[in-house]
Amino acid sequence: MTTGRGVWITLEGGDGSGKTTQAELLAGWLGERGRAVMRTREPGGTEVGTLIRDIVLHHRGDIAPRAEALLYAADRAHHIATAVRPALHRGDVVIQDRYLDSSVAYQGAGRVLDAAEVRELSLWATEGALPDLTVLLDVDPVEARRRLDADDKPFDRLEAEKEEFHTRVRTSYLALAEAEPERFLVVDAALPASEIAERVRARVALLL
Ligand code: TYD
Repeated sequence: MTTGRGVWITLEGGDGSGKTTQAELLAGWLGERGRAVMRTREPGGTEVGTLIRDIVLHHRGDIAPRAEALLYAADRAHHIATAVRPALHRGDVVIQDRYLDSSVAYQGAGRVLDAAEVRELSLWATEGALPDLTVLLDVDPVEARRRLDADDKPFDRLEAEKEEFHTRVRTSYLALAEAEPERFLVVDAALPASEIAERVRARVALLL
């Protein structure tokens, strides 16, 4: 983002891709270098965001797809305006778990909404804010699942549907990274955490 002296890094990836571990390792490394770090997340990086997070993640029953997309965008608008922009103006390094690429990949993967429209909605919400770096921890949901299920039992219909959804999320993430190679760093989430951290640090060092 062009405003402020800070550096804005977002982490993206499927469930269980290790974003939290990497955020911790990166924050520790930056702290040792004397940088002020703000760690945050979407949804839920603010007080209002915590309320919105509760709706989108815990509401029982359906939420209409456009309403869901607007809730994520509302969380995002408030988060960027009241937490992220001020931190970047202070000169902090912001390490953020998920941003608009999550909306494009997840809400787009529902097959109801158009991915380009979802992106435009988020950009409107944040007055066009884009991170300096987005780290995509790429995880193959089929592989991840296989490693968990040592006994390889066949999936039931619901599980298979879920897996298809996560495969669409992954495909969408990879397409986003390909479209904006200067913003994205793609790392194989199956690598050891220390190796991933090293690759992330090498890229972040260029931004400091
Ligand atoms: P979270 O608790 O952050 O889990 P994770 O460890 O997977 O990051 O849950 C966030 C969930 O919300 C995750 O399943 C992705 C989803 N999400 C969207 O669908 N759209 C969005 O714009 C964002 C930010 C998250």
